[in-house]
Amino acid sequence: MTAGFWTDAALASTVADAAYIVAALLFILSLAGLSAHETARRGVAFGIAGMAIALASTVWVVAATGSLVPQGGFGLTLLAVAVLAGGAIGLWRARVVEMTGMPELIALLHSFVGLAAVLVGWNGHLAASELSGSLRDIHHAEVFIGVFIGGVTFTGSIVAFLKLSARIGSRPLMLPGKNALNIAALVLFVALTVWYVLVPGLGLLVAVTALALLLGWHLVASIGGGDMPVVVSMLNSYSGWAAAAAGFLLNNDLLIVTGALVGSSGAYLSYIMCRAMNRSFLSVIAGGFGIEAPRAGEEEQGEHRETDAASVATLLASASSVVITPGYGMAVAQAQYPVAKLAERLRARGVRVRFGIHPVAGRLPGHMNVLLAEAKVPYDIVLEMDEINDDLAATDVVLVIGANDTVNPAAAEDPGSPIAGMPVLRVWEAANVIVFKRSMASGYAGVQNPLFFRENTQMLFGDAKERVEDILRAL
Ligand code: TAP
Repeated sequence: MTAGFWTDAALASTVADAAYIVAALLFILSLAGLSAHETARRGVAFGIAGMAIALASTVWVVAATGSLVPQGGFGLTLLAVAVLAGGAIGLWRARVVEMTGMPELIALLHSFVGLAAVLVGWNGHLAASELSGSLRDIHHAEVFIGVFIGGVTFTGSIVAFLKLSARIGSRPLMLPGKNALNIAALVLFVALTVWYVLVPGLGLLVAVTALALLLGWHLVASIGGGDMPVVVSMLNSYSGWAAAAAGFLLNNDLLIVTGALVGSSGAYLSYIMCRAMNRSFLSVIAGGFGIEAPRAGEEEQGEHRETDAASVATLLASASSVVITPGYGMAVAQAQYPVAKLAERLRARGVRVRFGIHPVAGRLPGHMNVLLAEAKVPYDIVLEMDEINDDLAATDVVLVIGANDTVNPAAAEDPGSPIAGMPVLRVWEAANVIVFKRSMASGYAGVQNPLFFRENTQMLFGDAKERVEDILRAL
């Protein structure tokens, strides 16, 4: 191929348009693949391929058209520096992050998308535009909406990052009339948008940027610890819409499609999680949640019984059906490998072993499924909460490994509990319940768990990994 081929700007743009469609299709296939364990690897491969195609064609367009900075090859140099720096930091973070630190990393990444949308919006305002008439109005609306969504996503994600990484307290901020404040901010945004479309002044852009930054901060600051998972997935959705808004401004179809995919899948995930935690989706979108429920005390509620690994091994050896419900503690202890071995050993003895996974067990959706898949637990014995809940009453032994809120009977039985109404695994219906944890401390939502004081419950204290290994030895 001649040098002219690579520097033909028209050709590069046409090929890039086609490549963007292919990349968008690959992203859709990727999402479809990620929806089931069996196809998840393929889904990731599609995603990588789509991103590689998108990046390669973008680099070509920049090289051929010098579209970043028209003079000479400077645009390409800028792009190379940005890609190398971003790629290196991304690779480093992805390698060192613990699975349990994923939510805060994701929150931080969302903040970058928000910031990018704000910068693209500002650029759209500052750059000279030859548009006129209604096209010009649409352009101004895009600038304003992009900056607004981006600003909300930016500060919202930073507050989520700070809360999830325990750099600030997770208690909800309760400003008086918080819902009225949020609604007033939205009304003000609509009014400012109309004004800006009519008279696009810099002052209005500064005002909407400040408004969006404040609103994002307030929305997430008013949300308490237990609702943070929904917030992260909601911010995921916002970051998608922010990217789509930037796509409109940059005239980039791929960014629009990808942003819409992230925006709608994030919204759907938030909806599923709201259902799993019995929260109203609409009140989540309105930021009106983290609701003032009367807080149940953290005091202990009676006597608990302790057991040891040898007794649990004896109990398991005589059981005919066992259900394992893992939670965040299994991830902290990295106990999934001995747990998988325990399941395999019991199955070899003819015990019916299954796993029951709560939709928000752990610190991000699918956390437990990933850990169990990593330890090669067969998919067909890993069941969702709704698939296993009715079988728990007929189960001999339930092993609760580092889970707490997700097996709390108060959610089902105590209307005054902060987690009242959240569907839980009804482990207390089983004949015997063994709870693996290190102390009587409460879980993520900060609520005491009456399960620990039930007649059929015994506590096995200590690090989950060490205790499961003790049981394996005793078996
Ligand atoms: P939690 O309720 O947080 O309970 C985990 C338990 O594990 C704790 O009680 C802790 O007790 C125990 N633990 C910690 N380290 C341990 C170790 N090394 N060995 C043994 N036990 C250990 O977890 P869960 O039941 O999985 O519930 C999830 C909670 O997180 C829900 O409230 C949910 O809303 C929230 N959340 C979920 C998500 C998503 S999307 N899934 C995201 C953020 C938050 P000790 O300290 O006594 O050991």
